Amino acid sequence: MPNITINPAGLTVAATAGATVLAALTSAGQSLASKCGGNGQCGGCHVFIHEGRKSLSKIQRTENEKLDSIVGVGSKSRLACQAVLGEEDITVELLGFSSGF
Ligand code: FES
Repeated sequence: MPNITINPAGLTVAATAGATVLAALTSAGQSLASKCGGNGQCGGCHVFIHEGRKSLSKIQRTENEKLDSIVGVGSKSRLACQAVLGEEDITVELLGFSSGF
């Protein structure tokens, strides 16, 4: 069972392997601007994964194409709705703005 450390809140919560990062964040009471319902189209769930990136699911075409259209994307960027948790702990930085709009 992976733990997610959520920054800048500094909150650590237990999550479930196989769940999306977005689902885990929502369960932890964090709200992201997920206007597309979690299908990788809006970019509102853009986050940085600072630790544990390799345990997440690989970036698929839909996510990659959306990330290409978002300003401020870096090597740690993921769409929380598309990144599926593995068994390892991760550290997520919520960006505090909707970068995909
Ligand atoms: S919720 Fe829209 S891209 Fe993730």
